[in-house]
Amino acid sequence: MSVADKVKIITTADGSHSLLNETLHETYHSRHGAMQESEYVFIEQGLRYWLSHNNQHILNILEVGLGTALNAWLTFRLPEVQTRKVNYVAVEKFPLPPPVWQQLNYAATDRELFERIHALSWNEWQPVTAQATLFKSEGALQELDLPPLEFNLIYFDAFAPNKQPEMWTHDVLRKVVVKLQPGGVFVTYCAKGQLKRDLKALGLEVQSLPGPPGKREMIRAIKL
Ligand SMILES: C[S@@+](CC[C@H](N)C(=O)[O-])C[C@H]1O[C@@H](n2cnc3c(N)ncnc32)[C@H](O)[C@@H]1O
Repeated sequence: MSVADKVKIITTADGSHSLLNETLHETYHSRHGAMQESEYVFIEQGLRYWLSHNNQHILNILEVGLGTALNAWLTFRLPEVQTRKVNYVAVEKFPLPPPVWQQLNYAATDRELFERIHALSWNEWQPVTAQATLFKSEGALQELDLPPLEFNLIYFDAFAPNKQPEMWTHDVLRKVVVKLQPGGVFVTYCAKGQLKRDLKALGLEVQSLPGPPGKREMIRAIKL
């Protein structure tokens, strides 16, 4: 069964689209608002937090689960990001085909950037803006080799632990966290106690933050 047969476009409470994976019965974003959730969890509590604590010119980002590319698009279009050299690695096991991503209602402005992110080829570095390069890595995070980079920021946006527990094991978390620089930031919408304990055991300082609308808590963790 192709990805296109498994996913259905839904409209979330803030008017932005998301996808429902009908096999897992799981949405790609919060039903309370896809745009709102990405903006808050990954951009506000991850990217803007890192930018406000670091003035280095190079920013290396790892995203687990490129999906609709909403997080990537929001990242590349931020003015503070456009003045830096950004290397963005996005891992995705099930790339979305054009008939799906072309229907998504993100990017009323900057649509060209959104389409470029999707259209770029997989498994090689490609320029995406004047200052940013993107490596879309196709495959399962558990199996693939990540590019030899140390990351400043990790967007961990896998499906929820109760739907896809294999993405949240200690070994998988270790695989990404070892690639985080000291001072690097890991963010996720998830707030599970087991995740907090794993991140702590892997040498991160865990912060529990208020979640986006509809969610009590989220996690940001800093590599010590
Ligand atoms: C919560 S959704 C992603 C949301 C995405 N960041 C977005 O803004 O649309 C989780 C994503 O992880 C992908 N995925 C599932 N299993 C995976 C695996 N083993 N390795 C990498 N990605 C995986 C799914 O296909 C899906 O795109």
